[in-house]
Amino acid sequence: MIIKNASLETVCGYTSKLPKNTKPEIAFAGKSNVGKSSLINALMNRKALARTSGQPGKTQTINFYNINDELYLTDLPGYGFAKVSQKEKEKWGTMIENYLNSSEQLRAVFLLVDIRHEPSANDKIMYEWMVYQGFHPIIIATKADKVKRSQLQKQLKVIRLGLNTEKGAILIPFSAETKQGREEIWNLVDQILAS
Ligand code: GTP
Ligand code: MG
Repeated sequence: MIIKNASLETVCGYTSKLPKNTKPEIAFAGKSNVGKSSLINALMNRKALARTSGQPGKTQTINFYNINDELYLTDLPGYGFAKVSQKEKEKWGTMIENYLNSSEQLRAVFLLVDIRHEPSANDKIMYEWMVYQGFHPIIIATKADKVKRSQLQKQLKVIRLGLNTEKGAILIPFSAETKQGREEIWNLVDQILAS
């Protein structure tokens, strides 16, 4: 994919109506701070179009990035963010589930997990829920620059085991620092759009 244009087109809070987009959407989910917004910036070749932060809970809305008027990359709020109230968590959870459930243009979901850690209980619940909904989530192991090359395969195995991934599930190590995995992700998105 050659990025000619990228812009933040729609921002949805939990009281907003979801947009009725006419172009395909690709969504990125994962716990707070895992690197969703950083991945989207890397895909768009932008440094800070999607706002990122070392503090979890940065993205609190569903943000639709229009790419070349061809597709949308959807940046979701992170789950598992400890500092918000239970009520707030439920609202975000409902918002994310409602979007993943009801978008008519959603063509694929990517689930991001941190390559350094075993998937959390919330990661497992999210993955199971996505599979239950009929998605075949593509898993991205983020922050791959943080592990030694020699540890990479082992960590990927930990993630597969932890999530109990479907047979044939795609798992891609990615780094927003080195851009490792970027081409692979775009190739997949291109394939998805063409199918
Ligand atoms: P929320 O919006 O809070 O859900 O977080 P997010 O998943 O969008 O994470 P974000 O992209 O804001 O990144 C969180 C922190 O991790 C930031 O400090 C990023 O710089 C850092 N980060 C993200 N990706 C990478 C990566 O590939 N490598 C390294 N070393 N740091 C990363
Ligand atoms: Mg974010």
